[in-house]
Amino acid sequence: MREKIIAANWKMNHLAEDLKKFFTELLAGYKAREEVSVVIAPASPYLARAAEMADGAERVFIAAQNMYCEKSGAFTGEISPSMVKDCGCRYVILGHSERRHIFGETDELIARKVKIALNYRLNPILCIGELLEEREDGKTEEVVSSQLNAVLPQLSPEEMLSVVVAYEPVWAIGTGRTATVEQAEEVHHLVRGIIGGAFGDEVAQRVTIQYGGSVKPENIDQLMAAPDIDGALVGGASLAAESFLRLINFKQ
Ligand code: PGA
Repeated sequence: MREKIIAANWKMNHLAEDLKKFFTELLAGYKAREEVSVVIAPASPYLARAAEMADGAERVFIAAQNMYCEKSGAFTGEISPSMVKDCGCRYVILGHSERRHIFGETDELIARKVKIALNYRLNPILCIGELLEEREDGKTEEVVSSQLNAVLPQLSPEEMLSVVVAYEPVWAIGTGRTATVEQAEEVHHLVRGIIGGAFGDEVAQRVTIQYGGSVKPENIDQLMAAPDIDGALVGGASLAAESFLRLINFKQ
């Protein structure tokens, strides 16, 4: 069985007090599930605090939402992989569509970030996904393939097994417009095929592929029932512990 990962991407939300409330409520209701990992990505000033709160909770991990691709040095405003690690993170979200489209991150930069994250034994959550006009122009496959092909050739099979892929159609992020299960599954199947083409089917079958884009308590069960959907990367519905707990407790 593949590991399932339900991840909270808080983006630029939640102060220290909100974080404390969230973890208190989460841990009061949380029961670890076999093969299901929980990942929480607060904003970077709160990573260490979040790691302390999650300490001792079975299969609950912290992720950074981004990091830079250099060890250290004159990069004002950035955080390094060793800092992410030092704050107690196991994961790092890389290539989120907001990083690509608001901050101009390129496939090349994202590939460098993935590589250095792996060197520091961080698990990258590599986000890919097409814009609405790309979908409407029938270019989803082309876009997703080229985003993956910017990274995959640089990885060994062992490294690929440490990467989580998150398919997030940009038109479904924060819009309330979720991809249908069929639309999502179609791309997840394609992504697994591309991984299989690069590393063989055995590796591809072990890689966790999350879906992201308006995941909520009302649609999590249908999404998680699809054969190639192994988890969710969740923004809006991850901010309150109650709704996030419902996502973690998706029906198998
Ligand atoms: P959303 O965000 O759940 O609010 O659509 C998902 C994401 O950006 O990862």
